[in-house]
Amino acid sequence: MKGLILSGGKGTRLRPLTHTRAKQLVPIANKANIDYVVEDIVRAGVTDIGVVISPETGEEVKHHLGDGSRFGAKLSYIPQDRPGGLAHAVKISQPFLDNDPFIMYLGDNLLDGGIEHMLETFNKGGVEACILLTKVSNPSSFGVAVRNEAGQIERLVEKPKEFISDLALVGVYLFTPRIHDIIANLKPSARGELEITEAIQNLLEAGFVVNAEEVRGYWKDTGNAADLLDANRLVLSRIQRNILGLVETSEIVGEVQLALGATVRNSSIRGPVSIAAGAVIEDSYIGPYTSIGENARVIRSEIEYSIMMPGATLENLEKRLDSSILGEEAAIIGESHKRNTTQFFLGDRSTVKL
Ligand code: G1P
Repeated sequence: MKGLILSGGKGTRLRPLTHTRAKQLVPIANKANIDYVVEDIVRAGVTDIGVVISPETGEEVKHHLGDGSRFGAKLSYIPQDRPGGLAHAVKISQPFLDNDPFIMYLGDNLLDGGIEHMLETFNKGGVEACILLTKVSNPSSFGVAVRNEAGQIERLVEKPKEFISDLALVGVYLFTPRIHDIIANLKPSARGELEITEAIQNLLEAGFVVNAEEVRGYWKDTGNAADLLDANRLVLSRIQRNILGLVETSEIVGEVQLALGATVRNSSIRGPVSIAAGAVIEDSYIGPYTSIGENARVIRSEIEYSIMMPGATLENLEKRLDSSILGEEAAIIGESHKRNTTQFFLGDRSTVKL
């Protein structure tokens, strides 16, 4: 069994963060999204993993993941010259995948509950593909599955315009090498892509068995800012208290991870909160579901349900920040002596909600 992680895409809905970073590298609870993906695959016992990368962000993803040894995996990089669709990614990965069954995992998906249960059923044999499903409120944004009364998959449709089911395909799939024959005959869809959903539908039509499992725990496609904050909340809701950094005259309540080299002075932290190495919190309040990145600084300010990326700064804020995302080295600085003016220096397409 091999692994295949897809790490292309432009991440347009996460701009401006993705102007400067691959969406798969956006941090969730101080760890890149794609790290959770590699860990999930390795935990399921699969260590020979291909990572499909794009010309725009490939180098950055490669630099971040390296050879995979820190995950106990062996990573190979497969360049995809254009965003040709998920089935196109499989097609160009065929020399790497060879004749092995494989697990395909989208690098911007976040799954709780692991993938071992999917593999268990798949490994019993008799099925050519296994998909993972979850109920969603906006099925027209996903591939969806229609099941019969016995729970078997009858039909799969990519981004249906009219409602046929609210069971969406999550970005985790298991395949036997049979899928390559099917993809070889696939035509581009209306959006000009080779759709994996259509390939699986064609497997069904050719009389092969496709198994479906439902997501255990949560699943997130961290496509936009609200999803990213929610993904951060979900991961933080599972952390355990671990105070390694320096704490001076402060109150730290609940599940708080304070990395070695982080400092909290004269402040109040209410978990779940993750604070990375080198961060400094002074005369401040950090509320639940907040991640503070490496070397970020919070001085005389209050923040909750938010993400501060490495090197971001908050200083002298009069209002508490809520549901906010600050990119790397972004800064919001208040006036230390009150004047009735405001000054900003914001990057392209930034949004400030006052
Ligand atoms: C892709 C798949 C879709 C699936 C989704 C899960 O969509 O085409 O079937 O439901 O991933 O994240 P895309 O991200 O290309 O819109």
